[in-house]
Amino acid sequence: MSSHWQTFYETQAKPDNYDEQMKLVRSFVQSHLDQKVALISSGGTTVPMEHNTVRFVDNFSAGTRGSVSTEYFLENGYAVVFLYRWKSLEPYSRHLQGSQILDSLDVIQGDVIVKEESKSKLLQIITKYQKVENENRLLRVPFTSLFDYLWFLRGICTELAAFGPKCLLYLAAAVSDFYIPSEQMVEHKIQSGGGPLSITLQLVPKMLVPVTTSWVPHAYVISFKLETDENLLVQKARKALDTYKHKLVIGNMLQTRKSRVVLVTQTEEKEIILSSEELKKGGEIEQRIVEDVIRRHEQYLADR
Ligand code: PMT
Repeated sequence: MSSHWQTFYETQAKPDNYDEQMKLVRSFVQSHLDQKVALISSGGTTVPMEHNTVRFVDNFSAGTRGSVSTEYFLENGYAVVFLYRWKSLEPYSRHLQGSQILDSLDVIQGDVIVKEESKSKLLQIITKYQKVENENRLLRVPFTSLFDYLWFLRGICTELAAFGPKCLLYLAAAVSDFYIPSEQMVEHKIQSGGGPLSITLQLVPKMLVPVTTSWVPHAYVISFKLETDENLLVQKARKALDTYKHKLVIGNMLQTRKSRVVLVTQTEEKEIILSSEELKKGGEIEQRIVEDVIRRHEQYLADR
């Protein structure tokens, strides 16, 4: 008999670009087998309400945690598969959001030039970006819906299993717990003429189960836990660890996620806090999180 998660894949169609993207993943894997690799998920999933989707339910995440962390993993020599919500923040380009790129340019005598005051910032970003691109150490895989995300999560994990314990999963995406199965979804835009709408969302199977037991059983798996009630944070993180038996849960509160996280393992609870002074100076909590996580991953490799 199929388990709950297997049934999900049997009944929900794969994304149209699945085979094409997985070819890129396989080729990326082949080029980096001797390195440490991280799968970083980032951004929120959408849950469509109609097959021809006009409306959807979204999960909160700007993609900051995932995109910033990706840069630090890359700086530390990892190859990274960045599984991210299409149009959420991406590594490197995140520094130039909105009109920032236009504001850093000028036109002088018909030529476009970089303004003097923007040069050092752009130089830093572009230098790091080009190094990573030249070494082909970053593969971006975009998703929009929950279905895309879960299909790619399984496909990528299965390929990354070849790295054994050298593989690290850093699951920062905000993944919907509820969805409308394809067979229950209406074809066309829901009309308002029928009066107030009531819909029933089904529970999404917890994919950390197959992640840890079947897809990448030797990987160093880290999940994130987002809460808005402080009293639940560590309790829910512990519950996740007990259920999925993975290595680390990083808890954060919606309101303070940029300045405080708590790292919870079976034996330990450790806070990382960035002071308001550090934040003002442009400090990024992800730098400290990633340093800590890499130390743990190295220890995990050394202990094997
Ligand atoms: O992008 P930012 O704006 O910087 O925000 C970052 C963040 C707050 C979104 C991020 O730091 C964070 O906390 N992400 C996890 C949010 C969350 O609580 O997700 P979740 O409850 O949907 O999932 C918890 C864990 O279970 C996740 O690691 C997920 O991979 C896993 N999960 C979720 C759903 C599901 N069906 N199966 C799963 O295995």
